[in-house]
Amino acid sequence: MKITVVGAGNVGATCANVIAHKELANEVVLLDIKEGVAEGKSLDMWQTAPINMYDSRVVGSTNDYSKTAGSEVVVITSGLPRKPGMSRDDLIATNAGIVKSVTENIIKYSPNAIIIVVSNPLDVMTYCAYLNAKTHKNKVMGMAGILDTARYKAFLSTELNVSTKDIQALLLGGHGDTMVPLPRYTTVGGIPVTELVSKDKLDAIVERTKKGGGELVNLMGTSAWYAPGAAAAQMVEAIVRDQKRVFPVCAWLEGEYGMKDIYLGVPVVLGKAGIEKIIELQLTADEKKLLSDSAVAVKEVMSVLDKMEKVA
Ligand code: LAC
Repeated sequence: MKITVVGAGNVGATCANVIAHKELANEVVLLDIKEGVAEGKSLDMWQTAPINMYDSRVVGSTNDYSKTAGSEVVVITSGLPRKPGMSRDDLIATNAGIVKSVTENIIKYSPNAIIIVVSNPLDVMTYCAYLNAKTHKNKVMGMAGILDTARYKAFLSTELNVSTKDIQALLLGGHGDTMVPLPRYTTVGGIPVTELVSKDKLDAIVERTKKGGGELVNLMGTSAWYAPGAAAAQMVEAIVRDQKRVFPVCAWLEGEYGMKDIYLGVPVVLGKAGIEKIIELQLTADEKKLLSDSAVAVKEVMSVLDKMEKVA
């Protein structure tokens, strides 16, 4: 079995590294347009195999998509990352062209691949991949919810001084400042989080989560990679091992949550067919309002893509 990661930047390389360590495939192909970068990083990774004892062969390629042929799952991380002061939406013009061309090349060599998009602006780049892949909606999805939920859980773990393992949480909506962490669906060892932390503190954690990506851009001058790479690899794992994991994933909605023709983060069951089910929750009026505000923000950027020539 083969898994491809397109883009050998920080996120792509981290993702490929986690996939190899978990032995999710016999072969992990890392592809990039920059001459030699994917080959170099793959070789470096492959040289950790005798140390870390894994058998996944990591192979690099400079833009030769024939090497990706027959991939079961493809992670697309290509595109520019954010710089301080930029919103994810500022990246649309450059990244849409890149995601379109990557998707076409991927589908040419792996027509049955399940595609996980990580490029920003996430929800709209997932839409861009879906338009250009011309494949089933359940096979094109975006990674955001696992990352944003992980940030939320990490902040809660620090605040409560408890293991991250015992925190369960859910987050809906787009991968931007309008994302919707849901305290009502957050528990710590089965205990509702609202019984363990004051409303003020919880509100502050929710706010910090929403801006979690920006916090890291400001610290590092570029966007994050360890958690984004690991989160995408976790989706790959759920698919190739047919785990039926329940994760928030950026999915194409056709009436769920009262929304249509939009890519948005919702809880799904992830297994070998890709998105096997979208789980619909009974939201409160306040939660519905937050989700619909998030959908409006995503739709706005989707319509920018729709108007761009030769991309949609
Ligand atoms: C972030 C980028 C990957 O949230 O969107 O860190």
